[in-house]
Amino acid sequence: EKGGYEHFMLKEIFEQPKSIHDTLRGRLLVDEGIIKMAGIWDHLERINQAQKITIIACGTSWHAGLIGEYLIEEFARIPVEVEYASEFRYRNPIITEKDIVIAISQSGETADTMAAIKMAKEKGAFIYGICNVVDSSIARVTDAGSYTHAGPEIGVASTKAFTAQLTILSLIALKLGKHNGNLSNQEFMRLISELDAIPKRVEEVLESTHEITKEIAKNFVNAQNFLYLGRGYNFPAALEGALKLKEISYIHAEGYPAAEMKHGPIALIDENMPIVIIAPKQGHYDKIVSNVQEIKARKGKVIAVVNKGDTQVASMADYVIEFPETSECFSPIVASVPLQLLAYYIAVMRGANVDQPRNLAKSVTVE
Ligand code: M6R
Repeated sequence: EKGGYEHFMLKEIFEQPKSIHDTLRGRLLVDEGIIKMAGIWDHLERINQAQKITIIACGTSWHAGLIGEYLIEEFARIPVEVEYASEFRYRNPIITEKDIVIAISQSGETADTMAAIKMAKEKGAFIYGICNVVDSSIARVTDAGSYTHAGPEIGVASTKAFTAQLTILSLIALKLGKHNGNLSNQEFMRLISELDAIPKRVEEVLESTHEITKEIAKNFVNAQNFLYLGRGYNFPAALEGALKLKEISYIHAEGYPAAEMKHGPIALIDENMPIVIIAPKQGHYDKIVSNVQEIKARKGKVIAVVNKGDTQVASMADYVIEFPETSECFSPIVASVPLQLLAYYIAVMRGANVDQPRNLAKSVTVE
């Protein structure tokens, strides 16, 4: 049932071209120039008039939510806040009938997310669910929603559910932006045809990075710490990369927005500190170049995740992982794939049980 793969996690990483395609199927109709999502369409007015959108989630789904914030604010121009469900539920947040709450959950059973939804519902908010498991408790309690259709995710470390969540959030942001007039037709058409090509880009990145991530992993089997850095849309991708590594390899890893380095974490950098830095061409590239210079001046070991053909960051890096270029807004979907592979191979080489990491459960049904 692992389809010839050694672990479910690896199988699920490799399923991503298909799972993203399944998320898009029937929704993204490029030839007709439309995004079909009944859950959004049926409540379009309420969503577009929203005072704000609050995204609630935990773990990886919370990271997807952070990228959702960038997407929705950029394309739909609706204010978005992203909260850990566990914090939101205990702090009497300001939520009214004019609010939309988007709950993101792979399992649809996470206790904190469920409790946060119930609270927001009592305050009159409209609840939109993004779940993977069909007919799960969260899917049932929401007012409307979209399933990610990533298929069953068995590995405790979320991979294909994450990229499917990013795909749904992209669809929602583009659809809202189109209908509320913030996105020109031309820009909308350009973005949807790029989104349509993402499964292909993911297929390319799997092929081009599978061997190299395994090679790079060999150098870090005994690492004790890792930093992951990114800017803009790839700051949450850095958080997610770090979470993948810590949960399955038990190496301490932290994700940071690259510019925050000088406010503290730079003190950690010496020749023993591996730093994964996501630096796509589109998205604050020059700023990232200076961050890499700062790291190299302190002899940090740089693993650069850059676009194909990159020379500037690549020439300073100790290890280079290349991925195909896309608009910045879709780059976390593609860049996350080699980060999943890197975490996977480091964990396997350390002899860890990647599908069932210690202390973790696939769905966290208790708080
Ligand atoms: O099922 P959910 O998306 O609600 O789960 C949320 C987190 O428990 C989950 O993403 C967790 O962080 C994963 N182990 C991450 O790989």
